[in-house]
Amino acid sequence: MAYSAKVMEHFANPRNVGEMKDFSGVGEVGNPQCGDIMRMYIKVENDVITDVSFMTFGCGAAIATSSMATEMIKGKPIEEALKLTNKAVMEALDGLPAVKIHCSVLAEQAIKSAVADYYRRQGIDPTPIVGEIPPCEACHT
Ligand code: FES
Repeated sequence: MAYSAKVMEHFANPRNVGEMKDFSGVGEVGNPQCGDIMRMYIKVENDVITDVSFMTFGCGAAIATSSMATEMIKGKPIEEALKLTNKAVMEALDGLPAVKIHCSVLAEQAIKSAVADYYRRQGIDPTPIVGEIPPCEACHT
């Protein structure tokens, strides 16, 4: 299966790329299968994700899924953002080749990791809300 036009478009023109200075939470996750890394920043106001950006050492599929995922959670309440699955992101991109499905997991986990960091900064234990997030395989944190 080749990449869909939407995947190619998000890969060529990724949305919300870059570092965020005044973030409310930041998360970093690694993909154990390829060693790629994803960092996600969120800005939160009144439990709503008002801004989001990402940076990655990742493949084209990781870039495209992160780009789409950030578009899907921007302006959404945290609760809704946490429900975003890699499957929903893949559907929004008209699918991914089977060998690239694991790449889309990176975006989903990075969002959860950023939300967990946001809660930790508020002095709230994120685990009951966000669930367990596998540690970053690349940096072992
Ligand atoms: Fe590493 Fe896609 S091959 S994220």
